[in-house]
Amino acid sequence: MNKVAIVYWSGTGNTEKMAQCIAEGVKEAGGEAELLGPGDFSTARFKEYGAVAFGCPAMGSEVLEESEFDPMFTALEGDLTGKRIALFGSYGWGDGQWMRDWCKRCDSANLYEEEGLVANEMPDDASQEACRELGRGLAKW
Ligand SMILES: Cc1cc2nc3c(=O)[nH]c(=O)nc-3n(C[C@H](O)[C@H](O)[C@H](O)COP(=O)(O)O)c2cc1C
Repeated sequence: MNKVAIVYWSGTGNTEKMAQCIAEGVKEAGGEAELLGPGDFSTARFKEYGAVAFGCPAMGSEVLEESEFDPMFTALEGDLTGKRIALFGSYGWGDGQWMRDWCKRCDSANLYEEEGLVANEMPDDASQEACRELGRGLAKW
């Protein structure tokens, strides 16, 4: 199934830009992309997609956004075993600790890229292309 959900939260548009580029890549590879907010996704929806890309910037102190995204992710992380997922997000002044911690939470999942895809603030051209490449890969996975 080449239908890919891209479930993301973004405060200032940087992770949103990544999500849009991933969606472009999915479509370039002939897949179907659906952009969703954290309130639109739950465990029951995994079966609708061949893969799910989750996106959230580094917030708080190296954590996921705490009011909407983390509650959604916490609710489904017990059901990640074998699920085909990818993680992405933008960060600012940190060193990516939030993404390393997030990847660890996904040990049981089938992670497309073990380290997650990160961009510093607004993704530059190279980061946008990396996002499209991720989308193309997820569509063909
Ligand atoms: C409340 C708040 C907390 C943040 N905490 C971190 C942090 O712990 N580490 C980091 O690298 N960047 C941090 N940032 C910077 C954001 O991750 C960065 O600006 C990112 O590009 C925002 O993505 P968005 O536009 O998708 O919201 C924080 C930003 C805000 C507003």
